[in-house]
Amino acid sequence: MKQDLLSIVDLTPTEAAQLIEQALVMKQGGMRCLLPWRSVALLFEKPSLRTRVSFELAVTQLGGHCLYLSPQEVGLGQREPVPDVARVLSRYVDCIVARVFKHETVALLAQSASVSVLNALSDLEHPCQALGDFLTIRERLATLTGVRLAYVGDGNNVARSLALLAGMMGVDFAIATPQDYRLDEATEAGVRGLAASKGSSFTVTDDPVLAVSGAHVVYTDTWTSMGQEDQADMRRKLFAHFQVNSTLMAEARPGALFMHCLPAHHGEEVTSEVLNGETSVVFDQAENRLHIQKAILAQILIPAD
Ligand code: CP
Ligand code: NVA
Repeated sequence: MKQDLLSIVDLTPTEAAQLIEQALVMKQGGMRCLLPWRSVALLFEKPSLRTRVSFELAVTQLGGHCLYLSPQEVGLGQREPVPDVARVLSRYVDCIVARVFKHETVALLAQSASVSVLNALSDLEHPCQALGDFLTIRERLATLTGVRLAYVGDGNNVARSLALLAGMMGVDFAIATPQDYRLDEATEAGVRGLAASKGSSFTVTDDPVLAVSGAHVVYTDTWTSMGQEDQADMRRKLFAHFQVNSTLMAEARPGALFMHCLPAHHGEEVTSEVLNGETSVVFDQAENRLHIQKAILAQILIPAD
């Protein structure tokens, strides 16, 4: 049976934890030919460096084959209806990895495809990013237990997947955003429920200092996500007090890790000093996309006995 990954909550907490442990094993053990002759389509409506390269390499290193389909050649929903694209690709490939503007598009692909569909970023979520980031935290801090993660900036797709995964894994999560850029109520309620079930905390504030206080990890992302470029000037002004700089990092635990999914805008959401600082793990995060996606692909494409 096919298994889609559209939202991080499509996984159980146990499955998410197993993927992280499996990725650690794969990272240490090098490459194994787990997916011979499997084909994966990368169907992208938006630009990408990390996601495209790490998925292509993940599939190749597992012995499969990847096809990159650019927005121009497919014209998803324009040249051809989304369900037809899903049905056609299902006749050729074993998995569709899709990066889309609207989350409904990846949901419609999954509904129409007979093969598994993975969300490689939508306006709502970036589940592969969150899993790779928790792999990075697990690697750097040796555990997820007792970890306090602070997110500062826009309540966007990356923030949503991180908040939900934190709730699932029992990681304390604090998020500081301008009032109008909080996560939506349903997500906040979902994270609150997950955190309560795990005995972890969930703090929502508009005060970056409060959010990072006592944090082991400080995370930020762009203030202007792909598709919001016309709001960039307004957002730069609105988010000016949410920059992660050395003054803010000094409010976190000594030696706190700095994380960013990249691409970063130096001097906006983060200073170059912090991004290039000793405790920055942004390039580990980029590398770990490869390892976590190998674990995800192996889990989804290898039928259980
Ligand atoms: N972090 C991330 O998803 O990067 P890309 O947009 O370059 O894929
Ligand atoms: N929030 C960003 C993440 C990029 C990886 C965006 O959606 O553009």
